[in-house]
Amino acid sequence: MSLPVPNVQELARTGNRPDQQIPDRYVRLEACTDEVISGHDINAAIPVIDLAKLLDLQSSQEECAKLGSACLHWGFFQLTNHGVPDDVISDVRRDLIEFFRLPLEAKEAYAKPPDKHEGYGQHFVVSEKQKLDWGDLLHLQLRPTESRDLSFWPAHPPSFSNSVERYSLETAKVTRCLLEFLAMDMGVDPESLLEIFRGQPQTMRVSYYPPCRQADKVLGLSPHCDAAGLTLLLQVNEVQGLQIRKDGKWLAVDALDGALVVNIGDMLEILSNGRYRSIEHRAVVHPEKERISAAVFHQVCRKATVGPLPDLVMKDGGRPVYKSMACEDFMKRFFSAKLDGRANVEGLRI
Ligand code: OGA
Ligand code: NI
Repeated sequence: MSLPVPNVQELARTGNRPDQQIPDRYVRLEACTDEVISGHDINAAIPVIDLAKLLDLQSSQEECAKLGSACLHWGFFQLTNHGVPDDVISDVRRDLIEFFRLPLEAKEAYAKPPDKHEGYGQHFVVSEKQKLDWGDLLHLQLRPTESRDLSFWPAHPPSFSNSVERYSLETAKVTRCLLEFLAMDMGVDPESLLEIFRGQPQTMRVSYYPPCRQADKVLGLSPHCDAAGLTLLLQVNEVQGLQIRKDGKWLAVDALDGALVVNIGDMLEILSNGRYRSIEHRAVVHPEKERISAAVFHQVCRKATVGPLPDLVMKDGGRPVYKSMACEDFMKRFFSAKLDGRANVEGLRI
């Protein structure tokens, strides 16, 4: 259940004159006071993992160690040579941009009902007093395919469904592959990890962040960790805005052109019994340009349990670091709170 809030794209369009103040509910002090490290600083850049190297027998072992280290120390990496064809990426980018260009009424045909997670609107608003994010979302369940509710899939542009379907299939393939390597890195049977992700449940959250004249006073997306196992994030247009929490500071991620930004979510931190880290991140907005990003989240299957893998608990001297919870309860819990840093995963720590 999320409370209804104004459409931010509309708010930005009608209320962004120099003499107008942005409504108080969007003003966040921490947006301008927290220290931010530029993503151009090479020493501070998130690791880059090359999927072609992972798949090449010659380099696989070395790259897999790099992958494991990225998940352990950073919880975030950029994936290059991921094999998603260029046209699949350019088509989905084009159609997502087109969707947000539709008039408000056309987009609202896909409005998110208050008691559902899918559709166009906002999430995670649980109180009238809560600060609001400077952005609108389109949230769709993509996989397993039988879980799709096509009434939320935009009919315009006409190629939307086909573009999203192809992107979904390709990102699911990449994710399956990454999960296999992560299993190897953790020393667990890849098949048993894939079994937990059976059917490869996948949702997509497309975020539209309108420009904001007072960009340094708002946040596009509140600090949070993703509930999923693995998230693949695509920069839909050229505007960057993702920041991750590193050693207490915010680090701006400068996504390489064509790369996917991958991060460990709460589910994988828990499954790994704390080996991998679900890192807090947020999105900032640009003063003059809109920004669009698309995250695909890969969850464990609905019937699975979110809990430390027994093999890893055994390796860790029989000590699970987190409570186990049925996937459905885990997701209900996540969607019933506001986004709040690491609160979701910390709350499950033993
Ligand atoms: C998300 C997310 C970041 C971004 O959707 O969970 O973290 O850059 N998005 O939009
Ligand atoms: Ni996120």
